[in-house]
Amino acid sequence: MKRPCRGERNVAYTVPKLKDFSAAALDKAVEKLLAALEQESGALGNGDERKAFRDHWLARKDGILTQINELWLKAAPKEAKREVGQRVNKLKTEVEAKVEAALKRTPAAGTESAIDISFPGIRRAIGAEHPIIRMQNEIVSVFKNLGYSVAEGPVIETDYYNFEALNFPPNHPARDTQDTLFLANQQSKARREQLLLRTHTSPVQIRTMEKMKPPLRIVIPGKVHRNDPPDASHSPMFHQVEGLAVDTNITFGDLKGTLDHAMKSLFGSDVKTSFRPSFFPFTEPSAEMFVSCFICGGSGKRGSDNAPCRPCKQTGWIEILGCGMVDPNVFEFVKHNGYDPEKVSGFAFGMGVDRIAMLKYGLDDLQLFFQGDVRFLEQFG
Ligand code: DAH
Repeated sequence: MKRPCRGERNVAYTVPKLKDFSAAALDKAVEKLLAALEQESGALGNGDERKAFRDHWLARKDGILTQINELWLKAAPKEAKREVGQRVNKLKTEVEAKVEAALKRTPAAGTESAIDISFPGIRRAIGAEHPIIRMQNEIVSVFKNLGYSVAEGPVIETDYYNFEALNFPPNHPARDTQDTLFLANQQSKARREQLLLRTHTSPVQIRTMEKMKPPLRIVIPGKVHRNDPPDASHSPMFHQVEGLAVDTNITFGDLKGTLDHAMKSLFGSDVKTSFRPSFFPFTEPSAEMFVSCFICGGSGKRGSDNAPCRPCKQTGWIEILGCGMVDPNVFEFVKHNGYDPEKVSGFAFGMGVDRIAMLKYGLDDLQLFFQGDVRFLEQFG
């Protein structure tokens, strides 16, 4: 409710008796009346005040319009009646319209006025971690608990870091498996300086070894891109977590023990792990790691009716990552920083976060993660 400030006159208007019924005197009286109406309308609050305001001006019994009738029109001498009558009629229409308009501008009784400090504010929806970022953080924290630190690198990468220093020679067919998205207008640059969207997080292995001397234990989460059209299991943008451990005497046994522990932390202590030979230019030997299917328990069948388990394609095993012992050729590129392949050894691994999140959350369409549908995302909040 707006209260009058000190000094502001708030004496309700009363209709004066007129002695002078000349046109000039009438004009003056009308002007005063309208000014009073203007002031009262501007100071109008809500609730009871609205009714009082309306009654004050329009009440049949003693409202201002009724009073005008009595005090101005009826009291006017005969010769002035016509003149006064016309003005009073015009004034009535004007006052009625202005009173209605003022009531419309202010809220009705029971509703709140424009500012009510006791009313709760507008709540901002609290955001939540995107399920992929959540999965990524979960994977990273498993390795943090083993003493790994986190390293990051640029998404726009040079050919040198994405390929050359990872032992992909120019024109080597292994480059074809990476479906690279190149930046335009790079032809004038030397090949190793040409820019592309990194196809994996592995270039950060090199970038970190350039900066930090061994021993090294790092995990590298991040976005990667490949020229894959989007479908239920592909996306041109996805996420990886890479790992690298370098020290003296790191063995394949260390790799197996570390990754077996990580998989049990992520998928449950009863999952089994299995390594199958593979090829990556930057590791030798290389392997693909499988975990026993944590959806069907490794049987390949689901439920009492023995329905085929789709995520593991009924094999009982899910391929989860690529890994291997760091190829000595990779160390050659960072030899100057303490990575002498004669002295140090290491293992590396890389996994797709999006795929793991899909498996963990039981989704059959990767695109759900990227469509920004709040109804989907809210379920992970
Ligand atoms: N960079 C590989 C890819 O994107 C994944 C990978 C395999 C990373 C083996 C590694 C590794 O560090 O040792 O397909």
